[in-house]
Amino acid sequence: AAEQFEYGALAGKHVVITAGPTREPLDPVRYISNHSSGKMGYALAEAAADAGASVRLISGPVTLQVPPRVDCIQVETAEQMLAASLDDIDRCDLFIAAAAVADYRPVAVEEHKIKKGSEEIMELRLTKNPDIVATVAGLGAQRPYTVGFAAETRDVIGYARSKLIRKGLDLIVANDVSNPEIGFNSDDNAVTLVSADDEVSLPQASKRQLARRLIEQIAQHYKQSTK
Ligand code: CTP
Ligand code: CA
Repeated sequence: AAEQFEYGALAGKHVVITAGPTREPLDPVRYISNHSSGKMGYALAEAAADAGASVRLISGPVTLQVPPRVDCIQVETAEQMLAASLDDIDRCDLFIAAAAVADYRPVAVEEHKIKKGSEEIMELRLTKNPDIVATVAGLGAQRPYTVGFAAETRDVIGYARSKLIRKGLDLIVANDVSNPEIGFNSDDNAVTLVSADDEVSLPQASKRQLARRLIEQIAQHYKQSTK
């Protein structure tokens, strides 16, 4: 499969990829986050660079090495990830949102460490984070070709397709995270690439190999759209 990888497929294109979790602070020592490892986004960045693109990775906190020839902007919160995504967006041809963005953040960040009180139940107030990929997809005529991910545990294609439409995306990568052999922290993954008029299934493979096949497919769909 690696031999079939078309090295020039994204030559001259600028690709922006979000990856990893976001971290939403509660106070100076605590945050809300999730188990995203960032592996899929980093593998996509490597594959896009290998396909000839100039690549900017906008990454939440992960423990991975930045692939060679990839420009990495490190962020923590969803709001920082949005700001980094919109920075220089005019230059972006292809935007791929692989990050597991926290849907909500604490309403307020306490200046000092929150102390344990006498109450048994503690309630947190959260407010919705901006939707980064929907914001980019909604930029209008100059918007980049926009690709999202959908991590689902049931009716995977159905929910992915409704996200594609709701967020105004060109493509969405549907990921069944109910299968413990694939997804979030695993080294392997299997996905279905969903567009308005077709579905392409990419069988289980290492995230590195799958990323190459995904970039190949995304590049093909992108070229079709610019014809
Ligand atoms: N996403 C984003 N900004 C957010 C939330 C999600 O850019 N604030 C992007 C993710 O990077 C992914 C896609 O949107 O590409 C779908 O994320 P997902 O969490 O599956 O969708 P949600 O709209 O948040 O729906 P839900 O979590 O309720 O399934
Ligand atoms: Ca979400």
